[in-house]
Amino acid sequence: MGTIVKIMSHIHIKNLHKSYLDRSPNTSKKKDHRISVLENINLEFEDGEMVCILGPSGCGKSTLLKMIAGFEKPTSGKVLIDGQPIDGPRSDNIFVFQHSGLLPWMTVWENVALGVRHMTDTVKKETRIQDHINMVELTGFEYHYPHQLSGGMLRRAELARALAVNPNTLIMDEPFSGLDFLTHMKIREEVVNMHELIKKTTLVVTHDIDDALIMGDRIIVMSDRPAQVKLEQTLNCGRPRNLGEDKQLKELRDEIFFMLGVSYAV
Ligand SMILES: Nc1ncnc2c1ncn2[C@@H]1O[C@H](COP(=O)(O)OP(=O)(O)OP(=O)(O)O)[C@@H](O)[C@H]1O
Ligand SMILES: [Mg+2]
Repeated sequence: MGTIVKIMSHIHIKNLHKSYLDRSPNTSKKKDHRISVLENINLEFEDGEMVCILGPSGCGKSTLLKMIAGFEKPTSGKVLIDGQPIDGPRSDNIFVFQHSGLLPWMTVWENVALGVRHMTDTVKKETRIQDHINMVELTGFEYHYPHQLSGGMLRRAELARALAVNPNTLIMDEPFSGLDFLTHMKIREEVVNMHELIKKTTLVVTHDIDDALIMGDRIIVMSDRPAQVKLEQTLNCGRPRNLGEDKQLKELRDEIFFMLGVSYAV
């Protein structure tokens, strides 16, 4: 009997600093003046964990995700995945979920198929594609093009495409932006259910504190730029979560609002 080997995805961020060249006009004379974006970040993400990252706009959240995905290099410090330093994009085991990630000239089926084009067994490949389309409830829309879908359906198709790749780590940068209230809630619920089912390491950057409280196994709040970790809180409450009734979540919600510069929670 074959042994099932579960590929781990443990991410370790060590003394990470990132700065960019300052291109503002008043610093043009000092040619190598740099803007510090991330300062001494030390974080670990456990295999299978869902971590939500909050922080003010422009503080460096997307930059942090880009370095984990290998799209950007640290100025100093390291990002290790299972002990190995990252030296470039690793599309085989990290998938970055981005809004507008579908190719407009391809159908839903073809877009989802893109992530599994390396599979040689046609039957297995087609099953994988169909299973993921079914999972996001787009059965019957396989041959629709992106412009023929609603906003929520588009987002579900993007999710199917991300998951069909079967990545060890899923990185989501503001996955619900631009969705209406109800679709946002529904798709958030789907992401939580999907995570319960497949238990992939999932990093979600969001501006919505309630998203983080509903979804995260852990919440990280970053400070203004240069971003440092301001708060790291594990949530030991089960799911589904009720923000109106859970005292711990309510108190944490107020604390995070205050931390992000809003004196009363809405
Ligand atoms: N390639 C780049 N070159 C120069 N500066 C950059 C680059 N990428 C990001 N920055 C700067 O780094 C800072 C952080 O940007 P980043 O996109 O990480 O912020 P963010 O926290 O994701 O913001 P938001 O919440 O608005 O998406 C910004 O000041 C931005 O101008
Ligand atoms: Mg961003």
